[in-house]
Amino acid sequence: MQTKDLELLSEETLLSRIDKSQLPKHLAIIMDGNGRWAAKRHLPRIAGHKEGISAVREIVTFARELGIRFLTLYAFSNENWNRPTTEVSQLMRLLGLYLKKELKTLMADKVCLKAIGQIDRLPKPVAALLSSVEEKTSQNKEMTLTLALSYSGRSDIVDAVHNVCKDIQDQKISLNDLSETVFSNYLHTKEIPDPDLMIRTSGEIRVSNFFLWQLAYTELYFTNTLWPDFRRKEFLIALLNYQSRERRFGKVSHKGKS
Ligand code: FPP
Repeated sequence: MQTKDLELLSEETLLSRIDKSQLPKHLAIIMDGNGRWAAKRHLPRIAGHKEGISAVREIVTFARELGIRFLTLYAFSNENWNRPTTEVSQLMRLLGLYLKKELKTLMADKVCLKAIGQIDRLPKPVAALLSSVEEKTSQNKEMTLTLALSYSGRSDIVDAVHNVCKDIQDQKISLNDLSETVFSNYLHTKEIPDPDLMIRTSGEIRVSNFFLWQLAYTELYFTNTLWPDFRRKEFLIALLNYQSRERRFGKVSHKGKS
């Protein structure tokens, strides 16, 4: 069924069509379009980010209820540091508020929070709050919520290469040991599987320096919906679209293709 037909169905019907045994184990999202959401309403950009946080809450809760084990949100890229300083500090403030407010829910829902990226570039109080929430939620087993903050795919790879070279120099590993599996263990994502599905909102059809290594076999889903409007129904449509795909991982089709 096409997306435009799925849009006509109710949330309840969409939910009943989800095959819980075929959910993406790891779902990654590029949350884009907060600024445009605000501009459409003649509001300041920060209003879009605030509504974006409301969408974050809804999607995190729903993903956990459905049984998704790993959810990664691209919340702040390395390139986002180049935005006007007022927007950067407002985003950092919102992140701090989110972490403070959300801890109770994360604990109740047994969600483990992790942060990846160049966390030492974040303002000290935000980095400290992050590490305290990470510590407090570390034993939670229902879902791992990873926030990519001050993250970029290229710097993840360069950091990994740097650390591989260091370990070779220190004779912790030998050059011959290097394989895709070994290299993956040097990436910021070493503790989480590669994403099965990546969603990008707002109609932009690009990866924007997100997971570059990790997306090798990920299914990609792009929607015109702006992030603050990406709610339960949109989410179910994305999952149904994913479940209609045949993942071949470079092999031949199971559907009798000769
Ligand atoms: C992209 O919209 C969004 C961001 C750069 C930030 C995403 C942040 C949030 C949703 C809030 C903080 C997140 C957490 C997890 C607490 P944009 O500003 O690029 O929108 P535009 O392309 O329409 O201008």
